[in-house]
Amino acid sequence: MAAATPDSSPWGPGAPSAAVGPVDLADRVDEALAVQALAFGLTREEIDVRRHIVLRHLEDPGARALGATTPDGRLVGFVYGLPNSRTHWWSTVVEPYLRATGSESWLDGSFVITELHVHPAFQQRGIGRALITALTDTVALPRSILSAIDTDSPARGLYRALGYQDLARPVHFPGAPKPYAVMGAPLPLRRG
Ligand SMILES: CC(C)(COP(=O)(O)OP(=O)(O)OC[C@H]1O[C@@H](n2cnc3c(N)ncnc32)[C@H](O)[C@@H]1OP(=O)(O)O)[C@@H](O)C(=O)NCCC(=O)NCCS
Repeated sequence: MAAATPDSSPWGPGAPSAAVGPVDLADRVDEALAVQALAFGLTREEIDVRRHIVLRHLEDPGARALGATTPDGRLVGFVYGLPNSRTHWWSTVVEPYLRATGSESWLDGSFVITELHVHPAFQQRGIGRALITALTDTVALPRSILSAIDTDSPARGLYRALGYQDLARPVHFPGAPKPYAVMGAPLPLRRG
């Protein structure tokens, strides 16, 4: 299916293919955030804040990242995550919501998918699915958790297709205007 191409994209409907593999995300953080800004929508200010957060996350020894790159080496998608720690900000926010639904134990032994984004010109070609399944396949933990905006989005559709189920919703993150859903899935993720 032809994907929509934003005005700012250098690619037309015949955008090239992209291969999923290891990338040095810390080294390519600006490219990654440019993809996230197009896919998810980020202001310049939010990009600057995210940049620090991503670089800090990637210092975690358990952090893992993969990218999708075109034949000429442009990054058009990425995923990264890290083992959950109850001391991380994300975990402290979601903990009371998971406790309220009896699913707090998901915070232990879980790999958190922190970000997953595919450039709009490359969406609906299986890249998002390939990124998250390949990443979680490298993880020696029994399950995975994440948060997604609590709406009927492609992301929610993808996560459900991979076996993620709602653990708590709506979840409110400080400063975030929209409510989120926290989802969890056993690893390895479900195959089509
Ligand atoms: C979510 C996202 C990463 C998916 O990437 P993608 O490469 O387009 O996804 P895939 O082509 O691998 O699609 C896999 C599955 O996702 C779901 N999906 C993808 N696009 C969809 C759409 N427009 N509507 C409904 N479901 C959709 C389907 O279940 C699809 O499986 P199928 O093709 O067998 O039906 C991408 O849409 C994106 O970057 N969105 C904006 C950023 C975002 O929301 N990130 C997640 C933050 S939590």
